[in-house]
Amino acid sequence: MKIEPVRALRGSVTVPGDKSISHRAIMLGAISEGDTRIEGFLRSADCLATIDCMRRLGVMIDVIDRNEYDPEDTSSVVIVRGKGLHGLREPRQTLDAMNSGTTVRLLSGILAGQPFTTQITGDRSLKKRPMKRIIQPLSEMGCRISSQTATDTLPLTITGGELHGIQYRSAVASAQVKSCVLLAGLYAQEPTYYIEPALSRNHTELMLSAFGANLKTKTDREGRPGVIIYPGTILRGQSLTVPGDISSAAYFIAAGLLAPHSEITLYNVGINETRDGILRVVRAMGGSLRAVNVRMEGREPVADLIVRSSSLTGTTIGGSLIPPLIDELPIIAVMAACAEGDTVIRDAGELRVKESDRLKAIVENLTALGVTVRETETGMVIEGKGVKARRRPGRMGIFKGGVIDPLDDHRLAMAFSVAGLVADDPITITNTDCVGISYPDFYEDLAALTV
Ligand code: S3P
Repeated sequence: MKIEPVRALRGSVTVPGDKSISHRAIMLGAISEGDTRIEGFLRSADCLATIDCMRRLGVMIDVIDRNEYDPEDTSSVVIVRGKGLHGLREPRQTLDAMNSGTTVRLLSGILAGQPFTTQITGDRSLKKRPMKRIIQPLSEMGCRISSQTATDTLPLTITGGELHGIQYRSAVASAQVKSCVLLAGLYAQEPTYYIEPALSRNHTELMLSAFGANLKTKTDREGRPGVIIYPGTILRGQSLTVPGDISSAAYFIAAGLLAPHSEITLYNVGINETRDGILRVVRAMGGSLRAVNVRMEGREPVADLIVRSSSLTGTTIGGSLIPPLIDELPIIAVMAACAEGDTVIRDAGELRVKESDRLKAIVENLTALGVTVRETETGMVIEGKGVKARRRPGRMGIFKGGVIDPLDDHRLAMAFSVAGLVADDPITITNTDCVGISYPDFYEDLAALTV
């Protein structure tokens, strides 16, 4: 895909449903009593992998495409016919989480409570990602879970059964690990207390309590965030609407700020404070960003966002700010290259174990485009070129054109596409199919904004 520099971006986008929330709605719906109706479900490859796994576990799930009736409407409604906590059946084949870390890690928590054996695997990228982080707590809870590899990677074999509540201090701030342990906690004999080094996204906690689970947040003595889940409740199917994904909105936030003479409105974006790091960074960098029409969608806050072309300044990003923007660091790095002054990113070692080693890939690609950037163990320092350069298409003097290999990583493909909008020459992204992981219509939505 060849991305040409743009003169301006104008208009509005309704970004697709939140990926994290879509996965969780399917999983909680599956283990609830009664039906769950999900509006605004993200019909992307990752979330479809969750549906596929759940169907193989005996759950009936109907996906209704809105655009069968209205070509303008690309959203989907999903009905999950809940089986209750103990109604899943042993799958005949190995489950395939494909590219989705959320599918494998959250589902493992549920499988840990089932009285049968499941094998679960994934694609080439997912097979490289660390699973020790879930093997350890689930084993402590009494689940038999093992990897067939020396590096504790996929495939996993999980034989569930009676579990014990544990107190678990995770070394990583990971919502996938937290959610895995909380879901297993539904099946334990005693309460489970999960403590994390910094607060990761809390969609599982919010949704679990909406479905009737008994849990509460509890900070530990050192001030670390934690959650206690009490077993023994029945989950009840719900009707819910998935907010737009702020991680998908992030590309248009950046595009609107960086492209000249631009204004973009993004409708219905989830702004949960465990996800809104990108908004905080944009404000710290001096970007023009307004959140209007702030409201609640179930237990999740949403807003419409308006962004305008802005001159940005460099900033420092680290510590507890990392989890609420972990998936946005590739696009933040692109913004940083266009800012005045240096941007320092630290404490982001988790980026090395995402769909690709994102730290390495960001540094290599920015360098290839002519940006001065230094990789550190857990981050990078980006020398911003400033936007003093004339704001004329093809004359910004920030990125030169070139060819970028996104390494089958959707977030790299979209982040470097945005760089292409403000580069001096076109940027070709080799193989953009990977955007289907989280945002199948990304390029159509982008094209509609191009003046
Ligand atoms: C996710 C949590 C994050 C994030 C991923 C989705 C989730 O991963 O990067 O895209 O839905 O829980 P970690 O929990 O590993 O940080």
